[in-house]
Amino acid sequence: MSRTRGLVLVLLAACASAVPSFTACMSSSSPAPAAEEPAQDASDEWDGVIPCGPTMLSKGPWSLAIDATRAKIRWESCRPGSNPTVVFAPESGGAEQRVDAPDIPKVVSVTSFATLDRKVPPDYKGTWYMHEAALSGLAPATCYAYRLLADPTAKGRFCTARRSGDGFRFMAIGDTNPALGRTKYVLDRNLPANPDFVIHGGDIQYYASTLETWALWFPIMAPMLRQGGFFPAIGNHESENPQEYEEYTLRFFGGAGFDQPSPGYYRFESGGVWFFSVDTQDKWSAQSDQGKWLAASLADAASKPGFRFSVVYFHRPLVTCGDMPDNPGTRAQFEPIFLANKVLLVFQAHMHGYERFEFPGITYVTTAGGGGLITDVDANKFRTYCDKRVAAGPYYHATIVEVDPAAAPRLDGGVEGGADAAAPRDAGPDAGARDAGPSGPMYRVKVTDDDGNVRDEFSHVIP
Ligand SMILES: [Fe+2]
Repeated sequence: MSRTRGLVLVLLAACASAVPSFTACMSSSSPAPAAEEPAQDASDEWDGVIPCGPTMLSKGPWSLAIDATRAKIRWESCRPGSNPTVVFAPESGGAEQRVDAPDIPKVVSVTSFATLDRKVPPDYKGTWYMHEAALSGLAPATCYAYRLLADPTAKGRFCTARRSGDGFRFMAIGDTNPALGRTKYVLDRNLPANPDFVIHGGDIQYYASTLETWALWFPIMAPMLRQGGFFPAIGNHESENPQEYEEYTLRFFGGAGFDQPSPGYYRFESGGVWFFSVDTQDKWSAQSDQGKWLAASLADAASKPGFRFSVVYFHRPLVTCGDMPDNPGTRAQFEPIFLANKVLLVFQAHMHGYERFEFPGITYVTTAGGGGLITDVDANKFRTYCDKRVAAGPYYHATIVEVDPAAAPRLDGGVEGGADAAAPRDAGPDAGARDAGPSGPMYRVKVTDDDGNVRDEFSHVIP
């Protein structure tokens, strides 16, 4: 039996035996109804005291809100009074520095369980203690290693924003549901590319799978969180119960970027490339606050010295031929704005599989195979633009993007040269003059599945 089919059968069995989660198993398209809510406060076995190990470290660490000279490192403790110190230094060597991040008490109001497997650690109600170390005065274009004194095994890294024209890599992923088993392998196959940071298209964690809690999610996702900065977008599964968005999503990942008038959307920059995280759970039209912010912020970024191009990413797709709605109205409003402000790449999620569309001047990638149950990527192939879909498939995967790969750090520590830069693959029938040559400004994309197979690979010039 194939792994995917086996997983489907397991999930269908799970759905059959867990009626409240049946809609969640069949589709993740609609806002989470009450039936998708995790079981809460249902245990008569818990004594009311949050379990806590000797280090008191309960989640993390991870890094976010990174620019050329600043970064934040967060973690959670299950008791007050743990060691608050993070120690960091450039990976290439240099003096260690220390920053303390004192306890910030945060109350979780209900206990949430993975209803299908009571062995999964619950998310207990009670007071948890967040830590946020605000690092400043960092060196630009430098990767740092850090560790927590609370726990000698709690280590991570991040890279400050690259200089415009520097090469760098980032990873895009979406719809991560590690309890189902494949996310670990997606990460194993893609993190060795050593991305500076990860953009996440949303649906970060799935209570709706009935097998997952945040307490389970963090340890499995630790390799990704410790690899580099984490910049998530907001998906519909970030609000599976009334408390989740405030008590988990924003507590863990709020303030991930900059120029953030609302908790749900923001931007950041590295290497002259500007990234815009859009919240598709919020209003997104030319008339909405978010839409006005996005249009103005894209134009502002395009006017900055050193600007190369922009990347926009979000959860619910504007275009898809799979089993989720598209959004032609918003696309009609914003694609001209994207083109006017040199948005070369759009990442979207929510449709659990992979797609790539090549439209004139802009590439849309659906990268939503991060571990949630794969669904029908061809359910709406009749949509008028589906002849522009040049690659697609029902597989678990993540996407690695190299900007200016000829100048990117090699995985062996050197710098890639033009001679051994991989020849670009076919960029699709409509890519035309956008196909990149073997040298010159370009970005290169590789999509690798959970078995290590390269499922799509393409490159485009940076005009
Ligand atoms: Fe979704």
